[in-house]
Amino acid sequence: MPRTILIAGNWKMNKNYGEGVDLAQQLANELADGTNGVEVVVCPPFVDLKGVAGVIEFDDAPFGLGAQNVYWEKAGAYTGETSRDMLDSVGCTYCIIGHSERRDYFGETDDDVNKKAKCLVEGNITPILCCGESLEVRKAGKHVEHVVSQIKADCAGLPIDRGDQLVIAYEPIWAIGTGETATADDAEEVCKAIRDTLRDMFGAVADEIRVLYGGSAKPGNIAGFVAEDDVDGALVGGASLVAGDFAEMVRKSA
Ligand code: PGA
Repeated sequence: MPRTILIAGNWKMNKNYGEGVDLAQQLANELADGTNGVEVVVCPPFVDLKGVAGVIEFDDAPFGLGAQNVYWEKAGAYTGETSRDMLDSVGCTYCIIGHSERRDYFGETDDDVNKKAKCLVEGNITPILCCGESLEVRKAGKHVEHVVSQIKADCAGLPIDRGDQLVIAYEPIWAIGTGETATADDAEEVCKAIRDTLRDMFGAVADEIRVLYGGSAKPGNIAGFVAEDDVDGALVGGASLVAGDFAEMVRKSA
């Protein structure tokens, strides 16, 4: 079964409530003629989720909703945290976890990522699980080894039996927000190694799991990435904040 291309926008800590609703409306307009079979998801900050969900509902917009983080406990005294069921209650069907910014600035470990992934999969929210190497690791030629070990730790014991239960995003840290992109061949090398690892862990269902590239993906380079055998779309930061650019990436991925 061919994998459906997925273009996901990671708004990071950008756009207040009103700005988020505006951006979602602009994107709905840009994509009013449909997405040509490409699946599209936006991941706004928590406070924008309900507003963007409203736009999706009322404009019948052709994109889904994801969050940028989750906590694995069900409820209780965890000040500042947001549970899976809370995300579900505002219409999230995806959630980014393990982003390098969370790992580097907020100390998120592979063990945390694994707990978040389990919690999401068990609640039918699809994790967009990020992995990727630093420049130092890349220069030492250890990028494949590094990413494979992240995937093994982060995905250990996940109850996966369908391809739509998990998305992986390979994001080399040196390419995030820097304007520096990996080549399509660099992305394919690691995305293929990720798929081989998923096949060892989960069997044939790995061929249905989407593996995305992320890191300065933009309208000018997206087609090259999605043309690769094991790259099934992109996780887009900066370019997802401009509706016209993000919509162009969707069109160029079709
Ligand atoms: P970027 O971010 O597209 O701005 O490089 C990608 C990401 O961090 O998800």
